Parts: sequence; structure tokens; C-alpha cells
Amino acid sequence: KEVSARLKRDLIRGLGKHSHHRAAVKMLPTFVRATPDGTEKGDYLALDLGGTNFRVLHVRVVEEQQRVLKMDSKICAIPQEIMLGTGEQLFDHIAACLSEFLDSQDLKGQTLPLGFTFSFPCEQKEIDKSILIRWTKGFNCSGVEGRDVVQLLKEAIRRRGDYDIGSVAMVNDTVGTMMSCGYRDQSCEIGMIIGTGTNACYMEEMKNVKRVEGEAGRMCINTEWGGFGDDGSLRDIQTEFDVVVDQTSINPGVHTFEKMISGMYLGEIVRLLLVKLTEDKLLFNGQTSEALLTPGSFETKFISEIEEEGTGLENGQNILTELGVKWDPVDVRVVRLVCDTISSRSARLCAAALATIANRIRVNRGLDHLKTTVGVDGTVYRKHPNFSEELQDTVRLLVPKCSISFLVSEDGSGKGAAMVTAVAQRLALQSSM
Ligand code: GLC
Repeated sequence: KEVSARLKRDLIRGLGKHSHHRAAVKMLPTFVRATPDGTEKGDYLALDLGGTNFRVLHVRVVEEQQRVLKMDSKICAIPQEIMLGTGEQLFDHIAACLSEFLDSQDLKGQTLPLGFTFSFPCEQKEIDKSILIRWTKGFNCSGVEGRDVVQLLKEAIRRRGDYDIGSVAMVNDTVGTMMSCGYRDQSCEIGMIIGTGTNACYMEEMKNVKRVEGEAGRMCINTEWGGFGDDGSLRDIQTEFDVVVDQTSINPGVHTFEKMISGMYLGEIVRLLLVKLTEDKLLFNGQTSEALLTPGSFETKFISEIEEEGTGLENGQNILTELGVKWDPVDVRVVRLVCDTISSRSARLCAAALATIANRIRVNRGLDHLKTTVGVDGTVYRKHPNFSEELQDTVRLLVPKCSISFLVSEDGSGKGAAMVTAVAQRLALQSSM
């Protein structure tokens, strides 16, 4: 309840005209003003950067069947040296992948509209003007922060000169997730990701979005809740392990809340705890191993494997053997308890944050009771054996005045980006008529 109350205050600060510059929770306008109404249609390209893989997709929105079809897609690896290289290299790489994909699909002659799921905090000026505030997760390319990502993409395509694209819509993955669920369920007004990173977006009343002109209707706000705590507001609940994870990351001080929750960091928190318990002679007879002492060696997916019902203890034995520690059966159970503690904390922190948003929507609309749907995606939410259950139970406890349904998004970053582009086109058409 305390975390939820602190976030509530930060949401208001992030929305304020004068307070948003210094706000830890950025509350970024997305220029998405409507969820799908079912009349959208057409062919689109989608790019998806910022999750587990970089992908290029060709997507068709079919009006009659109210469906979004993925025609084809391609995954391109982004090597570490590009993730940490120059912006020009990154965008040349992206433009090259897109070129190969268009060749393979025989699409080079067309100029299709493109939805770009770019899952980093961006100050959006319009749907097709989006300035990177800062890199998060594993990316750190030089010369991109402070620049318009659409322009960087277009310049890279122009440098090649072998194809062209139509209008561009910039989309955060949370927004894509909300929009792809919105096609199936029109009360889907929250999008949430718990994967490599964590974040959520929701439909806010325009009159509260002080940074954008106009009072009427709603706009989707990308909260960037990963940044919650960057002003020190969560210091009392950060553990010594959280502090080490932050300090040894490539962006210390940035995205405090995310570092307690998301897949990029959970395994490392568990590893640090195991090392500490071993040093305190509470595990493995007090003997660590080289692997256990190596940062990153305990992968987040191990947590899911060890917590798996039935096979978990056996998985734990294999993982610990692989890590070169000498375990006994009690050690394996302690390790499982550590995994459970860390994944539960993550689920409950997410639940606290989601509760704040749901309650805000309810109060915004002057309702005693709100019924709403959250579109969700991300490896942690999808793959962990009981994360989703723990999260849902906690939210129910925190906001009894909201009934929340959870809908796992089907490829929100791909299909959702196409959907955002399609809705933007529909609105542009309506306003020109
Ligand atoms: C990070 C990014 C955010 C994204 C989230 C989930 O928090 O800053 O934009 O939505 O990861 O991918």
C-alpha cells in the first residue's frame, strides 16, 4: 500500500506542466488518442526493438474479421558491439535488416506505413516524432539520446537508397500491447510489460495531460514506471543486493524500480543473495564456486525452472551442479526459497504499481467501481510458473473497487505497432473529412 501511495504521488508529478522535468516517473504522452474501433484495415510493416530480439514484420489488418494477421517476420540478431556502438551503426543495421526482409517478401516497390516499436523512454512530439530521453536495459549507443529516432531511421534508409517507407508511427511496447488487446477487447485501456524491462501505459483524460494542448478526450500515457525510485523514494525498501545490481549495471541510478522487478536483473539479485548466504556459511558448506561468483551466471530463467512445480527441485540440482557448487538436498530447497522470495517481491511490486493505475482510471471517471482489462506481455509474466497468479491476487487485494481482467497479448510489439499505425491513419482521415 505504501509503494502504491508513493507511485500515486509520482504519477501526478509526472503529468504536471512544471513538475514533469524533474519527475522520476516520466508519464510520457504517446499521441495515441484512441484504441481500435474495429474499422482499421490495410498492410503495414512493423519494427520491434528493445525486447529479447530485434524483429521486422509484415502485418495485415483485416476489417471484416476484426483480425490482425502476421504475414511474415524475421528476427535479426543485434550483436553486443552494436548495442554499445554508435547510433549510426545501429540504424544502418536496422535499415539493412529491413532491406533484406523487403527483398525476401517482394515488397520493395511499395511504400508501406511502418509502426516502430521502440521500447525506451521517448519524449514524443507527435506520433512520428520521438526523441530518445535515455537508453535503458542493455543498450547504450552513442549519439541517439536527445535525437529524433524517426529521423535517424529515415536517414539510414536514405543512405542505402534501395527502398522507401510510408508514414511512421512510434510505439512503446506497452502501447503496442494495449492496442493489440484492444482489438479483441475494447475495454483494454492498460498495457503492461514484465520482461527484460518493466513498464505500463494507460488511457488518461486529456484534461490531465498538461503538456499537450487540448482538453477533450483521452490520450495514452507511457508511464515509464521503471524509473520510479530514481529520486531516492524507494531507498528504504532497496536491499543491499538491489544497490549492488544498480551500481554494477551500465546505467547506475537509472530505472531503480525496474531493477527490482524485471528479467534483466532478477537472476543477478538471486545470485548475489546466494553468494551472501554461502559466505555466511548457510549454503553449500560455505564453499562458493568460480561460476557462482561470476556476475550474470545465474540466469533469470533459472528462477522459473527452479520454482516449477514437480520438476523444480530436480532442475535446481542440475543448475547448481552446472554452477559448480557442492549442494545437499537442503541447499536446493533454500535456493528455491530464495528464488520464490525474489520473484514474489517482483510480482507484488508490479501489483502495487498496477493498482495505482487502475485506481487512477476509476477516480478519473468518477466511478464507484471500474471494470477494465490489462493487456500484458513479457517473458517474466509469461514464463514464470506462478508470477501472474501472485500479481493478480495482490492487485485484487489492493484495489477491491476495480475488477481487472488480464489478457496476454499476442505479439503486441509486432501486431500492436501495426494497430497504432492503423488507428493513427483512421484518425487522420477522419479529421481531414
Ligand atoms: C524499459 C523501457 C520502457 C519499456 C520497458 C519494457 O523500462 O524504458 O520504455 O516499455 O523497458 O520493455
